[in-house]
Amino acid sequence: MTCRPCLPAEPLVRRGTVRWYEHSQTPGTAAKDDRTGSDAKKGWTMKVLVAYGSQFGSTAQIAERIATVLRQEGHDSTVASVDEAPDPSAFGAAVVGSAVHAGHWLTGAATFLDRHRSSLASRPVWLFSSGPVGDRGVAAPQPDPKEVSKVRGSIGPRDHRVFAGSFDRATADFSGLGLVERTVVRRFLSDGDWRDWDAIEGWARGIARSLS
Ligand SMILES: Cc1cc2nc3c(=O)[nH]c(=O)nc-3n(C[C@H](O)[C@H](O)[C@H](O)COP(=O)(O)O)c2cc1C
Repeated sequence: MTCRPCLPAEPLVRRGTVRWYEHSQTPGTAAKDDRTGSDAKKGWTMKVLVAYGSQFGSTAQIAERIATVLRQEGHDSTVASVDEAPDPSAFGAAVVGSAVHAGHWLTGAATFLDRHRSSLASRPVWLFSSGPVGDRGVAAPQPDPKEVSKVRGSIGPRDHRVFAGSFDRATADFSGLGLVERTVVRRFLSDGDWRDWDAIEGWARGIARSLS
């Protein structure tokens, strides 16, 4: 018989959702039948993929920070660029994010959502976009990038959050940008780092708690 606090390290089907858990306590030791709050650190581990699309590296750093917080909260997180073609079906949950260019996710991240739509739809998924820079941009209301609106119905993400971004033209490699994008950068993009690490970490902690 499988007792609830001693669930095996294999996929469990629960209310139609496949969840991957591992029990981090030695079987037979006093396990608490309580998977909330700090007990998550002691008892339950979810394998979580944090996949990102990033042109100049600042979204990659946001993804790394989210993965670090998930780890601190007791989950087994793996961070990977969408260009490395990670497979979300090997994970119990996924966080997927992208930098925003002209109101769109980067092509690699959009393709990742499309390619793995059915796999993502069958597990808990959180999305984030990393976009606005400049004081006015950061203060303005942020509409969903087109790719996020498109998958709200099909993937059903638990949440989508827009985080302020960062840009430094002195270090950015423009070789991957087209003519229109270079013009946008030259005319409209502010240099600086507006990333709100407290907001990012708080969001990641919320994800960790809801997976526990
Ligand atoms: C060509 C270009 C277009 C951009 N367009 C947008 C946009 O439409 N909306 C937005 O919020 N941010 C826009 N940004 C800002 C970036 O999304 C922001 O700098 C982000 O933090 C970059 O992430 P990365 O370093 O991971 O590439 C644009 C940046 C570039 C270079």
